[in-house]
Amino acid sequence: MPGPLGKDLLGLAPLSADQIRLVLDTAVPFREISERAIKKVPTLRGATIVNLFFEASTRTRISFEFAEKRLSADTVNVASAGSSVSKGETLVDTARNLEAMKIDMVVIRHGASGAAQFLAERIESNVINAGDGTNEHPTQGLLDLLTLRNHLGDLTGRRICIVGDVLHSRVARSNIWGLTKLGAEVAVCGPRSLLPNAIGEMGVTVFDRIEEAIEWADAFNVLRLQLERMQAGYIPSLREYNRVYGVTRARLEKAPRDILILHPGPMNRGVEIDSDVADGPHSVILDQVTNGVAVRMAVLYLLAGGKPELADAAKKGGA
Ligand code: CP
Repeated sequence: MPGPLGKDLLGLAPLSADQIRLVLDTAVPFREISERAIKKVPTLRGATIVNLFFEASTRTRISFEFAEKRLSADTVNVASAGSSVSKGETLVDTARNLEAMKIDMVVIRHGASGAAQFLAERIESNVINAGDGTNEHPTQGLLDLLTLRNHLGDLTGRRICIVGDVLHSRVARSNIWGLTKLGAEVAVCGPRSLLPNAIGEMGVTVFDRIEEAIEWADAFNVLRLQLERMQAGYIPSLREYNRVYGVTRARLEKAPRDILILHPGPMNRGVEIDSDVADGPHSVILDQVTNGVAVRMAVLYLLAGGKPELADAAKKGGA
């Protein structure tokens, strides 16, 4: 019997505003569990979860693992290097072999857009997309929404600008879907070579100059230049990018209001963001990381059925 999010979490595009709000509201008591001396509740005791990471990850992989362990699930980590994927086994064969060992959920990060959906259509276990190519990174989008909501309150009418390499960013897509569903005004800012051609169809404002974005925004979500995904010369040089689009203290000092600073990580310090901004008073970058564990606990719990009494018991320390 699927829970309130359905069988899988593949992206924020298919979710309703109410489903997104449900995840954010459920994450609040789960964040409190991570503040306790004993950071563990038995909510998912007996469940087996496989973390299938075909691309590098620090935050997402470790955060899912913490979330699973804090809910008392049994977890197994599989990376392409060292598994039979490196011998040519297909994604579906790998997952079906794991299912034959009686698993309940698969968390997958993959370099190909659509890989999570492809898998979800072929296996019975719940599938959670931990980032697929340039498509979506829904749990990053959700943790960004939670962080914004914690600091700005209701996001209706709030102005959030996504700055940088939108073209290669699954985080940007999940943010755009999530923010617009929650009623925020969304803009993007970056060189045209790093914006998708169809950006105008996503209901966002486009700023060509960072100074215009600074005049407008309540918050910036600053994106990494994804140099590993760039096959051609999208920008003249990193120095030039920083000179024209870098989020620097000197630029932010001219803002008409304090701008909340988010970055999904990993950061290229001195390229898209300067260190005194990343570590400055308006940065909530590490808060995003903390919220990541809570949001992933909420997603795991809701996909497993999400019975309200379990969340209440977890809140009280029982469950
Ligand atoms: N934000 C994010 O996805 O970071 P990782 O690549 O380290 O998981």
